[in-house]
Amino acid sequence: FDVVDVIRTKRDGGRLADEQIDWVIDAYTRGVVAEQQMAALAMAIFLRGMERPEIARWTRAMIDSGERMDFSTLSKPTTDKHSTGGVGDKITLPLAPLVASFGVAVPQLSGRGLGHTGGTLDKLEAIPGWRADLSNEQMMRQLESAGAVICAAGSGLAPADKKLYALRDITGTVEAIPLIASSIMSKKIAEGTAALTLDVKTGAGAFMKDEADARELARTMVELGTDAGVRTVALLTDMSAPLGRTAGNGLEVRESLEVLAGGGPADVVELTCALAREMLEAAGVRDADVEAALADGRAMDSWRAMISAQGGDVDAPLPVAQHVEEFRASEDGVVTGLDAMGVGVAAWRLGAGRSRPGEAVQAAAGVEIEAHIGDEVKAGDVLARLHTDTAERMPRALESIAGSWTLEAPGTEVPERRIVKD
Ligand code: URA
Repeated sequence: FDVVDVIRTKRDGGRLADEQIDWVIDAYTRGVVAEQQMAALAMAIFLRGMERPEIARWTRAMIDSGERMDFSTLSKPTTDKHSTGGVGDKITLPLAPLVASFGVAVPQLSGRGLGHTGGTLDKLEAIPGWRADLSNEQMMRQLESAGAVICAAGSGLAPADKKLYALRDITGTVEAIPLIASSIMSKKIAEGTAALTLDVKTGAGAFMKDEADARELARTMVELGTDAGVRTVALLTDMSAPLGRTAGNGLEVRESLEVLAGGGPADVVELTCALAREMLEAAGVRDADVEAALADGRAMDSWRAMISAQGGDVDAPLPVAQHVEEFRASEDGVVTGLDAMGVGVAAWRLGAGRSRPGEAVQAAAGVEIEAHIGDEVKAGDVLARLHTDTAERMPRALESIAGSWTLEAPGTEVPERRIVKD
């Protein structure tokens, strides 16, 4: 095969042959196809799209670039979830132990922050002692003992995606349905879960801002999963405003603990419970009373087992930032909108995210939202608290958060926010 032919085929709007796809993914993984060539091909796919059979073949080739895990020897059914990423999306933290408390296994391979969105592993690393890296054997043991595992994907899982993801991140080719769908599903299918619940985000803080695009992404991923023998369902959920009242690693752990203790913000609880019911249903557990498991401490027990199995000190205090500044309202009003993107970028600038691959993140940095949608405020009231260990980061974070609130006249009716869409 000639890689330039493959690029030209897609550049001119053609359909890639199965053999071309298998070859180009394999050759790229082995370093025979250069980064520049794959960048050109990714841009051609971004602009021209792919047909369903091409996406399916591309996904399979990425799975075949590495190892597949096998949980079939476990004594319990497996069920996993994946979110396409958002601001304040800490749902995995309460969700995995909640679902595991019903006796199913949750093998949650997670990632790190990307751009303005947070990463589950970065959040959990705010807990003193907690380790993200487990061997496959450790993972299997923990699934039997604690039920839930949240850890980093080993380097053997879909290595083609690892390379391609890093390349897309720096070439403006992230937000394409065929590339997102194949990236997510190659990892989840290779992971070997029997059931998968997808949380597909839409709105200002999501990669797919448009609802029709998000639906198309959801449909594509459900088909890919189903065809590969994974029971796959998707929920379409709102990411126009941040989830809950915190964005930032340690702050989100704190909020997750509130949910596990039976409290926490209503939107976080609603989404956690909706996803838990889907995951349990997919694993054959019907009519689970997930609210009761949050209220009576079963989910919290399961969290403590999961965190301590990975070296985390569940009773240690979470890190506190060295600098905290308040951002205040300049007028009276009712909050009718809160822009997830503005809050996400602020948290990232405060040090919760990275600007270069591999950079360390601050465990205590982030945004604590005081006034969320529906809240009445007076001029001078605190809208948010900004946390960071590096004072120099404060001005630019304030700049990005300043325009995030939409305030309307006091008394304005605010329609209830629907987290899960029909
Ligand atoms: N998450 C992934 O794993 N891949 C994408 O392409 C987008 C979000």
